[in-house]
Amino acid sequence: GNILNQRTRLMKAIKKYQELNAENIQRLLQTKVIGKEIIYLQEIDSTNHYGLKLLKSGIVSNGTLIVANYQTKGRGRHGKKWVAPRGKTLLFTIVLTELQRFRHLSLLTFAGALGVADGITHIFPEFKPTIRWPNDILIRGKKTAGVLLETSTRSKKDKKPGAVLGIGINVNQSQKDFPKEIAENVASLFMFSGRRILRLNVLVSVLEHFEKYYLALEQGQEKRFWSRLRKLSSTLGKGVRIHTPAGKIVTGTAIDIDEDGGLLVRLDDGRTTKFCDGDVEEVEWIE
Ligand code: BTN
Repeated sequence: GNILNQRTRLMKAIKKYQELNAENIQRLLQTKVIGKEIIYLQEIDSTNHYGLKLLKSGIVSNGTLIVANYQTKGRGRHGKKWVAPRGKTLLFTIVLTELQRFRHLSLLTFAGALGVADGITHIFPEFKPTIRWPNDILIRGKKTAGVLLETSTRSKKDKKPGAVLGIGINVNQSQKDFPKEIAENVASLFMFSGRRILRLNVLVSVLEHFEKYYLALEQGQEKRFWSRLRKLSSTLGKGVRIHTPAGKIVTGTAIDIDEDGGLLVRLDDGRTTKFCDGDVEEVEWIE
């Protein structure tokens, strides 16, 4: 009886330290800027929406992290929904208020994607995540995480640029947790590892790796950033089919990513065109 009790108490104590909450994140996180302030919410419409409201209020500090256990109106790119079951995924937003030194805010999307990819690689080296331009993190070809950057001026008076960088990572869902329409193209970390994964560890690793790229961009040290992005890109060199907002479908070969983040595509007729963030709904392989 006594030993059993001890065991139970020990298990409880361990669980307490592994739980996803502000205190535990703070305890583990070794960053300079990102997550110095943490807001943990059991439920919210969208952490990005919440972040934008804070940004406009003007009282939020740079790098503030908003984490939610559940979102009722999670947003994806191009007005799509981001749906995730309660308690099984990572849903968070980083509020950035000091962006005067950044050449192109759109590069923050890539910094986010690189942070996720490196953060996952740090824990699961065998997963080898790649980045599908501009913001999808894939593992073995399946979308496992997404990044949504939304920019805004900080407030009516203060015209300085600000941004919220929202990240959703599929962590502990099983196949049946995904809506049927997308189930074939998506996956979670659990589906690759076969064991339940601690969200806390993944979050801390991703934030630490994101900060590395964030600081590099801020300081104009972009070399490592670009080489890593080109290396992890699943899109470059591939045949792509691009759905334009006008509803056209364009095919060609992705040849490079421009210095402002646009995708350079050699079209089938030989011309080269640049697609900017927002112009491309989907990039796929041509079988
Ligand atoms: C995409 O791939 O379309 C981007 C998905 C981004 C989802 C995250 S979850 C946390 C944050 N809050 C939101 O409402 N969206 C982002």
